[in-house]
Amino acid sequence: MSTGELRRVAVIGAGNMGHQISLCCVLAGLETACVDVSEEQLQKAEAFMKKYLPERVAKGRLSEESAQEAARLLRFTADLEAGAREADFVIEAVTEKLSLKKDLFRRLDQICPPQTVLATNSSFFVSSLLAGETGRPERVCNMHFFNPALVMKCVEVVKGPHTAAGTADLAIRLAQKMGKKPVLLHKEIYGFLVNRILRRIMDEALYLLDTGVASAEDIDSAVVNALGHPMGPFTLMDLTGIDLSYHVAMERYRESGDPAQKPSPTVVEKYARGEWGRKKGRGFYTYEEK
Ligand code: 3HC
Repeated sequence: MSTGELRRVAVIGAGNMGHQISLCCVLAGLETACVDVSEEQLQKAEAFMKKYLPERVAKGRLSEESAQEAARLLRFTADLEAGAREADFVIEAVTEKLSLKKDLFRRLDQICPPQTVLATNSSFFVSSLLAGETGRPERVCNMHFFNPALVMKCVEVVKGPHTAAGTADLAIRLAQKMGKKPVLLHKEIYGFLVNRILRRIMDEALYLLDTGVASAEDIDSAVVNALGHPMGPFTLMDLTGIDLSYHVAMERYRESGDPAQKPSPTVVEKYARGEWGRKKGRGFYTYEEK
């Protein structure tokens, strides 16, 4: 399938990543269904769109016509079948639970036309864990966006041993259509490229905090003002979600059996308290709005 023929996308999951990926798709001119089991999540995603598009127009970043067209192209639905049955390309962005994703891929395989590509935005599950749930492993790959997806240009496309070259190529061209700068991983590796590098930074930042060397504020300040990063590691963990940091570390621990890979004491404590970052109004920092 050429990118020109690709017209309809279904994004499964309207959370932190899914609602912004859906907007990236409609802003690229693709008819998009944003699907979630939670009506509340769908309402939040729709409210974000209604605020975001006019703001872009007011800022002079988007024409009024393009904003109206984007809003027209995007629909929100809790009905997986209605959202995915005509999709040419599916991007799954649900909670990072393998059993949930496996079940979803099984269902999508039944619902979607045979040529539809099924991509996962998972941060850490490689697509070969999901491909076997479908009768189309050659059309399954990872397509990993970064937070905030509307802003971050990088998209990692990961080719599993089962992924056809044409599938990875289509994912790359789709990302380019969204104005992204995709990178191709020729083989699967835990954490892909970016999170492997980022984890080293975050682990070290957490070690320095846990051992009382410096405060979260000062570590963030040092990383911003000495290394030129746009935000420090603790501000970033608040943005991406401390629950995600917790699950990533637990997964690393489960996979390796190495106790050193367990989440840091601070992450465990914040995870247990529900202080998951911006989305909860509190993480390493406190936020006025949830
Ligand atoms: N959603 C949509 N757009 C946003 C946004 C958000 N949450 N936050 C900021 N923006 C937009 C603003 O509207 C603005 O757009 P404009 O320039 O076109 O007007 C632009 O981003 C810059 O915003 P601000 O001036 O308000 O703020 P900053 O300059 O501080 O930028 C930031 C905010 C883009 C978040 C920047 O701090 C940044 O790049 N931070 C690093 C983010 C990062 O490292 N992401 C990767 C995380 S790892 C990950 O995602 C892994 C995955 O597995 C979860």
